[in-house]
Amino acid sequence: MTRILKKIIPNVFKKIIHLTINYGSDFLKYWKYSTVNKVDSLENKECELILNYHSIEKGMLFSPMKPKFAMQRVINLHSYLNDFDIMENASNSQIFIAYKVVIEYYELHENAGIDISDYYTLEQYDKYKKIIKDVGLDFNSGKVCYLKNDFYKKNANFFDFSFSRKSVRNFTGEKVSYQKILDAITLANNAPSVCNRQASKVYLVEDKSLIDFCLHVQGGLNGYTENINQLLILTCNREYFYTIGERNQLYIDGGIYLMNLLYALHFYEIACCPANWGKTIYEENKLAEKIKIKSSEQIICMIPIGLAIDEFNVTLSYRRSAEEVLKVISSND
Ligand SMILES: Cc1cc2nc3c(=O)[nH]c(=O)nc-3n(C[C@H](O)[C@H](O)[C@H](O)COP(=O)(O)O)c2cc1C
Repeated sequence: MTRILKKIIPNVFKKIIHLTINYGSDFLKYWKYSTVNKVDSLENKECELILNYHSIEKGMLFSPMKPKFAMQRVINLHSYLNDFDIMENASNSQIFIAYKVVIEYYELHENAGIDISDYYTLEQYDKYKKIIKDVGLDFNSGKVCYLKNDFYKKNANFFDFSFSRKSVRNFTGEKVSYQKILDAITLANNAPSVCNRQASKVYLVEDKSLIDFCLHVQGGLNGYTENINQLLILTCNREYFYTIGERNQLYIDGGIYLMNLLYALHFYEIACCPANWGKTIYEENKLAEKIKIKSSEQIICMIPIGLAIDEFNVTLSYRRSAEEVLKVISSND
């Protein structure tokens, strides 16, 4: 017995130490580089800019416009939009769009005759316009309007299909048939996964009070939840992963599955909007009290689904250029 213990225990301890060091390293990097603790790099500032301007874009989707919507977001943006680094890099797509969105925000209120000078002055508006005067990027508005019939027309080839998928937040309230959801899951199951382990699982919630509870805890779709009568919850199960190196693989496989699921839903003309589950253990526990999901499973995302209303708005969600994303590494780097 002791011989067996001697053999096993050191091995178990070795694994615990190895796992702790690796999670510790993840922890340190997250602490050092994310904006949990500080906002100092240009990328950190860009992160804050996107978070705030995207919230304003989402506010623009409401019709009629809510006066002074997203006021705190505008106030947050002022400090970044006047930051030297940010002004110097106004041609960066996401920085440019942040200026454009706040400029549009000002004009929307001006045109509606709503005074916002207590948190956004004409001088600020003029300054932002001046900063991006010479940046030649295309921009019409932070929101784009679609007719449902046109929205689903572009399923012919992958190029058009990919460009046509958007997060839709306006549902009729009608339910999608169970068979159609099954068809979408069958298609989504084509998602590749590490060694084909297929650790993802999709839950369907149709009980409205449970949906409202989940979306309340999720918190990212406030104002849009009334007509959400079906909710998918995508999880990935830790039981399918086996090495310390794979400790974060569930998020990768879950993310790949999520993307394929979004495409599959779009293919079957099921409107949907992913709703982030970047949550702490407090929200996880709150949800676990109400929804029976195995504790080995990690929620990757919540996805309200339904049928789109005939005419709806989506956020522009302007994308970076390929040049901004692709970096060629040479042997001298
Ligand atoms: C993992 C994930 C989480 C998201 N969470 C939310 C959310 O909580 N609320 C929301 O309104 N949109 C959410 N979105 C939608 C994004 O805002 C949207 O995908 C992004 O702006 C790009 O727009 P598009 O999907 O229309 O192309 C989420 C998207 C992803 C991929």
